[in-house]
Amino acid sequence: MTLTPVLSRYWDHPRSWTLETYRDHGGYDGLAAALARTPDEVIGLVKDAGLRGRGGAGFPTGVKWSFIPQDGPTPADQSVPHYLVVNADESEPGTCKDMPLLMATPHALVEGMIIAAYAIRCARAFVYLRGEVVPVLRRLQTAVAEAYDAGYLGTDVLGSGFDLELVVHAGAGAYICGEETALLDSLEGRRGQPRLRPPFPAVAGLYAGPTVVNNVESIASVPSILANGVDWFRSMGSEKSPGFTLYSLSGHVERPGQYEAPLGITLRELLTYAGGVRAGHELKFWTPGGSSTPIFTAEHLDVPLDYEGVAAAGSMLGTKALQIFDETTCVVRAVRRWSEFYAHESCGKCTPCREGTYWLVQILARMEEGTASEDDLQKLLDVADSILGKSFCALGDGASSPIVSSVRFFREEYLEHVRGGGCPFDPHASTLMA
Ligand code: NAI
Ligand code: SF4
Repeated sequence: MTLTPVLSRYWDHPRSWTLETYRDHGGYDGLAAALARTPDEVIGLVKDAGLRGRGGAGFPTGVKWSFIPQDGPTPADQSVPHYLVVNADESEPGTCKDMPLLMATPHALVEGMIIAAYAIRCARAFVYLRGEVVPVLRRLQTAVAEAYDAGYLGTDVLGSGFDLELVVHAGAGAYICGEETALLDSLEGRRGQPRLRPPFPAVAGLYAGPTVVNNVESIASVPSILANGVDWFRSMGSEKSPGFTLYSLSGHVERPGQYEAPLGITLRELLTYAGGVRAGHELKFWTPGGSSTPIFTAEHLDVPLDYEGVAAAGSMLGTKALQIFDETTCVVRAVRRWSEFYAHESCGKCTPCREGTYWLVQILARMEEGTASEDDLQKLLDVADSILGKSFCALGDGASSPIVSSVRFFREEYLEHVRGGGCPFDPHASTLMA
């Protein structure tokens, strides 16, 4: 498969982020095409295109929009206000696609949000952005101001009679606030902790109103579908996972970065574009979708990287964050790093995750430091099993999945740690784990 740059096609332009450059490359044509249709037609188009959520779960975007109840054709007709919230709280380890997208072409998100808001007939839209990324915040705020000045936002968008206010909100850097309901709590001004689902946000979300929560990349993909059509979008990818997407390659790879390609491309193919695993080394393990997904090894190089292909091979496409580790990396050390992250970010609401992530870190630390006993490996799996599927939100599953899968593939390496008195790897050999 060849690369298909759509979102990233002029990221190397020296002023790619300005409204002028965006318009020079067909920007806001998708909005014009949307406003020429009814909101229901726009939803139908996105449904037909088969666009699936790019934040990790792959839920069909148009279907999610269609859940929003409608009392009439405009926001003013709705008995309860509707909201659009974009999740820009990207924080999954290895995941680094939304921030470059926002730095390079913030107007792709703004345009996509106007189209989505028009489709679900909402008058208020929010971007919940990771607070630490101040340059991204500034760039997005500048793009929003440009859009207001150009008449794309505010009252009577492009003379259509549709009004939309767009607010950019910076979070305070908690991983859990990327979970959609914790995000909504945080946006409402409370401590961010997951809510019970159902009701899903589409039924009762922000301020208890029907709310669509979508990822940055999902929304930024919408304008191109409106501008180029369903057939064009479906000409890429597979039947159930159509279109293009951003794959983020990081770690032990010659040319790390964003590679935009049709869904279903393989890591073997992506590595040919990225210059391969770093010279003189070989692939040991990798994540298909960030650190919350079960890991893969060299035997998975030809797995089609779409939702079905990755699931059939035992993992999840997730955020398409492909972290590559070569043979110099200790798998126990890598998994311990991830576990420390999850233990630190656990919000504490439910016992399996709050207590379990702490114990995972303790056991992995013992293994690395050479104080683990023979039964610690089974204890590690038992604790992971007490979290997996038994915690309140996806963070718990995410914390356990890489551990269980790494033991499946590298049991001997774990045992070597236990029996050999600690980590057998040179901590400085792996450029990632030193
Ligand atoms: P989920 O599968 O529970 O939900 C996905 C989306 O579909 C949500 O917006 C949900 O509201 C909606 N939905 C599902 N069933 C519904 C129904 N019956 N009615 C109405 N709406 C419905 O997945 P979740 O927990 O929202 O996300 C987990 C994913 O997030 C993981 O796969 C992980 O890869 C990803 N993730 C992404 C991160 C990032 O930095 N982008 C960070 C951590 C995890
Ligand atoms: Fe909080 Fe973890 Fe429970 Fe999620 S699984 S609610 S992050 S304690």
